[in-house]
Amino acid sequence: MNKAERIFEHNRKFIPGGVVSLNRSIDPVRSFVKAEGAYLYDVDGNKYIDYHAAFSPHLLGHNEAGVNQAVVDSIQNNESLMGAGPTLWEGELAELLCTLVPNLDSVQITNTGSEATFHAIRLARSVTGRDEVIIMQGGYNGWHNDVAFNLMDPLDKIDGWKPGKECPLNAMSAGIPSTQSKLLHAVQYNDLQAIENLLKTNKIAAILMEPILQNIGIIKPQEGFLEGIRELCDTHGTLLVFDEVKTGFRHALAGYQSICGVRPDLCSFGKAVANGYPLGVIGGKKEIMDYFIHPDPQKRVMVAGTYNAHPTPVAAAIATLKILRDREAEVYGHLETLGARMEEGLNEIFKAHDFKTTTIRQGSAFVTYFMDHAPQNWTDVISHNDMALDKRYREALIEKGIFHFPTATKQGSISFAHTAEDIEETLRLTEAVVAKLK
Ligand SMILES: Cc1ncc(COP(=O)(O)O)c(C=O)c1O
Repeated sequence: MNKAERIFEHNRKFIPGGVVSLNRSIDPVRSFVKAEGAYLYDVDGNKYIDYHAAFSPHLLGHNEAGVNQAVVDSIQNNESLMGAGPTLWEGELAELLCTLVPNLDSVQITNTGSEATFHAIRLARSVTGRDEVIIMQGGYNGWHNDVAFNLMDPLDKIDGWKPGKECPLNAMSAGIPSTQSKLLHAVQYNDLQAIENLLKTNKIAAILMEPILQNIGIIKPQEGFLEGIRELCDTHGTLLVFDEVKTGFRHALAGYQSICGVRPDLCSFGKAVANGYPLGVIGGKKEIMDYFIHPDPQKRVMVAGTYNAHPTPVAAAIATLKILRDREAEVYGHLETLGARMEEGLNEIFKAHDFKTTTIRQGSAFVTYFMDHAPQNWTDVISHNDMALDKRYREALIEKGIFHFPTATKQGSISFAHTAEDIEETLRLTEAVVAKLK
């Protein structure tokens, strides 16, 4: 038994499944003890170039010096969780967010992305007086009852789906009341017709969606899809919520919304906003956000949380955003250069070895599907991607010291700490893996 296995055996006695977020389970088990910049180190003495980035928050790299220093300063200044009245630091963070993301008039600060999407739905229900919500098949918006449905369903669970129709709902968890599914609809990404049909026949409070799907690889919007949704929402009085927990700050300082040019009514952020520290943001138009303080108690939306805007993650978020703001061209330029080289190198390698793969990239985020075209929705992925080969590829990369999460279709993330040499080394090792993959 190696050290990681011993840790796992110990932990599973006290933690069901041995890990604290069950989607972290990996087999063979590895236990990481240290991370610096682009690298992970495990307890058994192995070093990896990291593309998992803990499901993507580490945009600047692990333990970024400026972010860490801000956290140390906050602690040394005896900033503590005060739990009464406003704090200087939450105001500074809120102002930074609203300045950097033009579509944010105001924000509330949470601990996680899930809390942010939870509040988005409550706001939308109060504002519209409606209960039903549309999510995307293959989108992930958190673990709570409103949204924990329809991520990576097996084909037989969604085989009733036809273009223009909603997907059968599949809860991701037991314990979600059956009434919940009466309030929710799942549609395939890029299926504008299905959305239009639902908006015409149902009273929909909100469409909550990742603007690009990034929890099943990377699925990009077809031309006019996001614009079409915006128009339909306006026509039918439905709020458009962009869940930018994964896309926000990774692709641009003002979010993916600044790239696609579509303005959501509300948006959620998390992950990269604090470079790995736990922080979420719900924000958007003032007239909607002001429902948190609506004078009519029947319309006022509750927001609470003992740890909201805790000074430690807030210090990390302020430092992260200032680095991104002050070095915007350098950071996003570097990420784009490395991302482009990764994409080019992977394409060359798979072509040379006669694999029918498709690598999709948005800036520093990338994925290789083992299928011959860019997927348009989850059914396309599950029908055509060679999931077993995809997983085997990842496992072989990990053996070589390249850490991608070993689940098929999981998106890779390059950080500002990665160097051109890291990418070349990754491509060199990938070539060795691909040469033996068939
Ligand atoms: C797009 C998206 N939204 C929401 C969440 C939930 O965020 P958290 O895990 O911080 O609750 C995630 C997490 O992966 C996500 O990718």
